[in-house]
Amino acid sequence: MARLAGKIALIIGGGADGPANTGEKLSIGNGRATAIMCAREGAAVMVADRSLELAQQTANAIREEGGRAEAVAADVSIEDQCRGAVEATIKAFGALHLLVNNVGIGIGGSLLKTTTEQFDTMLAVNLRSHFLTMRYAVPEIAKAGGGAIVNVSSLAALRSNRMISYEATKAALLGLGRSAAVSHARDNIRVNTILPGLINSSMVRRLIGDREARVAPGIPMHRQGTPWEIAKAIVFLLSDDASYITGTELIVDGGLAAR
Ligand SMILES: NC(=O)c1ccc[n+]([C@@H]2O[C@H](COP(=O)([O-])OP(=O)(O)OC[C@H]3O[C@@H](n4cnc5c(N)ncnc54)[C@H](O)[C@@H]3O)[C@@H](O)[C@H]2O)c1
Repeated sequence: MARLAGKIALIIGGGADGPANTGEKLSIGNGRATAIMCAREGAAVMVADRSLELAQQTANAIREEGGRAEAVAADVSIEDQCRGAVEATIKAFGALHLLVNNVGIGIGGSLLKTTTEQFDTMLAVNLRSHFLTMRYAVPEIAKAGGGAIVNVSSLAALRSNRMISYEATKAALLGLGRSAAVSHARDNIRVNTILPGLINSSMVRRLIGDREARVAPGIPMHRQGTPWEIAKAIVFLLSDDASYITGTELIVDGGLAAR
């Protein structure tokens, strides 16, 4: 039985904005893999992304497999567009049960190499956006009888690689998720946070290129993770298999944090 059958999911940052991996037809990142995996598990999926074209590519891939999906443009640094993504989901599918906040960017560097403007942008895109999408989605999820939210943080929430605004926003997501989870358990809404380690995603290939050979030796499992492995963890947290899990964090990193 599909684990998300009958559910309606909104995946924010569900495009993939970089080159495809060798052997891939379609470029895959954490957001696109999650959207596709949610549909394979039976959910109807609204794919939201800053780029409508990238969101449409994901929705098309889902439909080609026989799933249900629509696409909407939403830049989550703009409040109206956070509300718009939720409204578009209700308009297309009539309800909302599941929300994944996958958007996360990395600009700036260490403390003295990060401008105030960069820090403000990071707060808007990586943190305020998740607050806003949850604020608009939670009343709808409650109306539908409950559901689940997953926010995508990073191992950078716990370990520093001198990217101050990335690390600060990713750490703040842990508090954001815990607080929303405690407030909305009574609405039958679970809220959890995923902390990926080093993942071979579309965005990483665009920004850094192929880092596999460089980083794999430092990871206990001796390889980067795939976006599909992040998507599987997210689907688990969205599904009833995680029915008593809320307000917590799941690290998916091939053992990196345990070193
Ligand atoms: N790839 C990794 O190694 C890694 C590690 C830890 C955490 N993460 C986190 O996982 C998440 C996804 O990362 P990924 O590398 O898989 O990327 P991804 O391939 O899933 O791409 C992210 C998508 O977000 C969209 N996006 C960017 N800014 C947006 C905005 N303002 N509004 C709406 N959409 C926007 C992009 O167009 C892109 O399609 C991020 O939160 C990232 O911080 C990634």
